[in-house]
Amino acid sequence: MRKTATLTAIAALALTAQMGRHGGGPHGPHGRMMGTLPKQIASETNPATPAKVALGRTLFYDPRLSKDGSTSCNSCHDLSNYGVDGKPVSTGVNGQKGGRNSPTVYNAAGHVLQFWDGRAADVEEQAKGPVLNPIEMAMPDGEDLAAKLRAIPGYVKMFAKAFPEAVEPVTFDNMALAIGAFERGLVTPSRWDSFLAGNRNAITEEEFAGHHEFMHGGCAQCHNGAYVGGGSLQKAGLKVAWPSQADPGRMAVTKAETDRMVFKVPSLRNVAKTGPYFHDGSVTELEKAVEMMAKHQLGTTLDGTQKKQIVAWLNSLTGEIPKDYIKAPKLP
Ligand code: HEC
Ligand code: HEC
Repeated sequence: MRKTATLTAIAALALTAQMGRHGGGPHGPHGRMMGTLPKQIASETNPATPAKVALGRTLFYDPRLSKDGSTSCNSCHDLSNYGVDGKPVSTGVNGQKGGRNSPTVYNAAGHVLQFWDGRAADVEEQAKGPVLNPIEMAMPDGEDLAAKLRAIPGYVKMFAKAFPEAVEPVTFDNMALAIGAFERGLVTPSRWDSFLAGNRNAITEEEFAGHHEFMHGGCAQCHNGAYVGGGSLQKAGLKVAWPSQADPGRMAVTKAETDRMVFKVPSLRNVAKTGPYFHDGSVTELEKAVEMMAKHQLGTTLDGTQKKQIVAWLNSLTGEIPKDYIKAPKLP
């Protein structure tokens, strides 16, 4: 049975209580409120226009952005597969393996920072990274890529439409702006948003119980807000040391010992579809990932029912893929 009067009553109460305590908005004073996803993750410095988004979509799917023409953004962030490649760590040009799991690009534009270690400020800055990364797409430099794109007449037209004021529209910076504008529309509202918007029947009783466990068990200290994460950087192994210490995390960026094993708290939107889990893709089962979080981040143990309920709630965060928006374009 999906709906019961009790669930409805509890849900209504829980929501009212939360609203009262946290001041109503999705980003209450404690930052622990959950919230609904926006329709579009807006940027003041990179406003999305239909022409810019269309260009960004095309670039996202174009393997010519890589040195040997083998790898596009979509190779590792398959938009029809929740924005991931499903592998522990990604494979780039020449079959080279990277050291980290590819996070989903869905809803990523809303995170405070990009990458597992937060080394890029936003999706626009991020988009330049993989193109030049020797393992991922391996272009020698941005100018090289711009020259490659300028030689494709279809792109010259698309860039001119997307950046009408630019004297030279086809640049590496504009490529990144266009991809970023496209990514800002990769939003996947789910049954959870419907529930938050007042449709009490949108989630099951078990899922609701899982939400309760998640909030009261302490998970929401780190995984909160509209993205259920993506809002801060935290140490992996806060209470009990993380099993693998191979990747120093943010310490590689800041060189500060206090940043050892610090990673971005991943968003849990679509998490049931984006395994394997963690920065190194070392865990395949979502229930196992939940169990490890309780142990290593909170120093607690969850019983079988609690784990199942939390996993059930995480499933309510699986959204709908925007099929029309991500439709693979004809490459120019
Ligand atoms: C070879 C596989 C590969 C390719 C190609 C690739 N990525 Fe990624 N992407 C990754 C991996 C792995 C990470 C995580 C790396 C890290 O955190 O150090 C990542 C991280 C990201 C993130 C950050 C998400 C977050 O939650 O922090 C975004 C956004 C992204 N990529 C977009 C793109 C775009 C746009 C392109 C094309 C220009 C692209 N990627 C090409 C594998 C790839
Ligand atoms: C102290 C902060 C903190 C708390 C508390 C916390 N997490 Fe996490 N969570 C993280 C960080 C950081 C990562 C990334 C760790 C890594 O990749 O090594 C993560 C990763 C995850 C992942 C894997 C997501 C992915 O895409 O790979 C899941 C699932 C998860 N957490 C669920 C939970 C649950 C359920 C709880 C409560 C039992 C919880 N977390 C408590 C910080 C926290």
